[in-house]
Amino acid sequence: MDLQRTTECEGALVSDDNNSLTVRDNRTGKEYDIPIADGTIKAADLGAIKLNDDEPGLATYDPGFVNTASTKSAVTFIDGDKGILEYRGYPIEQLAEKSNFLEVAYLLVYGELPTKEQYDSWVHEITYHTFVHENVKGFMQGFRYDAHPMGMLMASVGALSTFYPEAKNIHDPENRHIQIVRMISKMPTLGAWAFRHAQGKPYVYPDNELSYTENFLSMLFKMSELRFEADPRLVKALDVLFILHADHEQNCSTNAVRSVGSSQVDPYSAVAAGVGALFGPLHGGANEAVLRMLRRIGSKENIPAFIEGVKNGNEKLMGFGHRVYKNFDPRATIIKKACDDVFEVTGVNPLLAIAQELEKIALEDEYFIKRRLYPNVDFYSGLIYEAFQFPPEMFTVLFAIGRTPGWLAQWLELTQDTEQKIARPKQIYTGDRKLTFVPASERWK
Ligand code: ACO
Repeated sequence: MDLQRTTECEGALVSDDNNSLTVRDNRTGKEYDIPIADGTIKAADLGAIKLNDDEPGLATYDPGFVNTASTKSAVTFIDGDKGILEYRGYPIEQLAEKSNFLEVAYLLVYGELPTKEQYDSWVHEITYHTFVHENVKGFMQGFRYDAHPMGMLMASVGALSTFYPEAKNIHDPENRHIQIVRMISKMPTLGAWAFRHAQGKPYVYPDNELSYTENFLSMLFKMSELRFEADPRLVKALDVLFILHADHEQNCSTNAVRSVGSSQVDPYSAVAAGVGALFGPLHGGANEAVLRMLRRIGSKENIPAFIEGVKNGNEKLMGFGHRVYKNFDPRATIIKKACDDVFEVTGVNPLLAIAQELEKIALEDEYFIKRRLYPNVDFYSGLIYEAFQFPPEMFTVLFAIGRTPGWLAQWLELTQDTEQKIARPKQIYTGDRKLTFVPASERWK
């Protein structure tokens, strides 16, 4: 795009437009007007700023995208300062209290709440695509006895692309819809089978008479009984946890899905990349660290000494702090309530008392107040998962199942966004240049 230049200034031209950024390149003395839209400038506009026509223009250096918008999106809104999280404009608190995971999944993917017909048809479709090809089962059984369930999930969701080769027709709306349905349906099946595999238990087939979350619990825990009946309070709590994890705008795994999806690969391959990103301890693994920390603290009396250690920089208070939320994480507030419901059924996790006391002390402490550190979604989620008797390796699998509609909503948006291009960042090259190659036969003489 041509930058507006209306005022002469040492060879370059600038405009009087207030909605722009005037940049002076002190190397050349030229000034440039760069349009501002939606609180951003286009990085490509900086390309016009160059020493001379033969050189590449100016670029930005932003490892970790800390101040770079990679996309426009209408899926999820976050205001970190105010502790606001909205899916398609609806506050997370209302969705967690009054909706259910499949309705939220529809909302995220298709942008609006479903009509009765749309909802019934959506639930029917999701329910009747929960089975996977028998060869997927054989494939999963081939993993080592102690395979990490996230590794199994990542590989098996990627492998689904070989079972549905038509999924590569990403420009066909009907085709996109059926792949989205398949993936939301089959993720619990794959996740539950990965869990059973590690336990050496037979895989349980889906039960289409059950709701989405009940069916997942059945595939996880059913043994010889005819039908697994989960306590409705546990079903509701897990459903809420799925809702809370369903999307979080351009986080690491969503960015991975979009980045891989930008090559126009099929959605199974793109989501497999998202599962891989979520697997990392900086993204999906903090709740496990919270449990380890609480166990190490051991009792309330040890909390002050632990807090001192944190303040002295020896370690972090896991489950506290967030890159975006600086007042509170709205998901943490909801999870705290879900804890009560779950513990009513399972009995109280003794670590809860330590967590609550730790939270109380930290929230009154100047160190945490000054740095705006509050409990995040992971502070209490591990306690709930443990009450369900999930081993820590499963925590991230649960996150992945919840996040699948968000990944797919963002992927769908990407496929229809005419401004998107294949993701291909620039680099600042720091290596050698123009070396002369000496063959091994001469180098090793
Ligand atoms: N405990 C103690 N101090 C902390 C903590 C913590 N949990 N989090 C941040 N701080 C301190 C930092 O040491 C830093 O202090 P300083 O200014 O004296 O150097 C200050 O607060 C700012 O912290 P940053 O690291 O700059 O914050 P950033 O936004 O980069 O990090 C993060 C956010 C990674 C979440 C961080 O708060 C953290 O590591 N928390 C613990 C891990 C955790 O709970 N992660 C889950 C996040 S939620 C999720 O991913 C689903």
